[in-house]
Amino acid sequence: MSASEHLSQVRGSVLDAIGNTPVVRLGRLFDGHDVAAKLEFMNPGGSIKDRMVRYMLRHRAAGVTHVVESSSGNTGAALAMAAAVLGLKCDVTVPDRTSAEKIKRIEAYGAEVHVCVADVPESNERSYYSVAQRIAAEHGALHLDQYNSELNRQAHYTDTAPELWFQLDGRIDYFVCGVGSGGTISGIGRFLKDRNPDITVIGVEPLHSAYREAVTGAGCDTEFGTVIEGVGKRRPCAVFDPSVVDDVIQVPDDAAIDYARRLAREEGILAGGSSGCVAAGIAQLLPRLSGRIVTVFPDSGVNYLTKYF
Ligand SMILES: Cc1ncc(COP(=O)(O)O)c(C=O)c1O
Repeated sequence: MSASEHLSQVRGSVLDAIGNTPVVRLGRLFDGHDVAAKLEFMNPGGSIKDRMVRYMLRHRAAGVTHVVESSSGNTGAALAMAAAVLGLKCDVTVPDRTSAEKIKRIEAYGAEVHVCVADVPESNERSYYSVAQRIAAEHGALHLDQYNSELNRQAHYTDTAPELWFQLDGRIDYFVCGVGSGGTISGIGRFLKDRNPDITVIGVEPLHSAYREAVTGAGCDTEFGTVIEGVGKRRPCAVFDPSVVDDVIQVPDDAAIDYARRLAREEGILAGGSSGCVAAGIAQLLPRLSGRIVTVFPDSGVNYLTKYF
């Protein structure tokens, strides 16, 4: 590469360093199968949420001086990073199951973290969602609202999905994806099906979460609860688009943690619990799938070193 080509690689800010994450074959864990994962924890804020936050701020941040978001931690870190670059005040509300590492990361970027009770419905005034809404209303701040904003889906449709498509030259048979807000699976799933309607899109979530029922109608009779951060919901989020999802499977927490550990030890990929969840889901699916399976690993195991590893 010439000196001028190297210079043209210099990014204007860390926000321009988001994306272009690698896709890696999981050849040891899934020996004899064609399984690949896009390593989204290699984004500068540490997760796939960097893309969504950048997209949302590009569309909504004109004239804004203060931003707020409710988050299982990664959107908070992405927003705190962007707020540091853009000189915005930033508040993040998180549920009390959020790992200490994620909370410290958000604070390191200079944002304020509000830890809220996890085990209450969204509508309860103490939920992390309601507290974010209240902060936004009281301070005139922009609430990104990833759980309801269409921009969440669009970010993955216009940014993450085309990258994945070109990296794999369109050779994808199954897209298997963890579901939290549902933005990733809905945005990427829609893009893939627009290009090739034969691609099967399968969601993975913890036991008793609500998306399986939303897609398959299979009953969900036990109270939902999980230690895996980022995936699973008591009720489907508005941003989730069930029309692009063919099936949703559920994974016990201990299997998700086991697969997160195996990813580190067998593939050298230190990914988070939701990546372990999707890897355990792929292991469950393998006997009935043939062809190339592609997934995304949303965040890093570094977020959970004292929790799962
Ligand atoms: C670690 C992790 N994995 C998976 C997800 C799920 O992504 P989505 O919200 O797009 O469904 C999230 C979302 O917060 C997350 O933080």
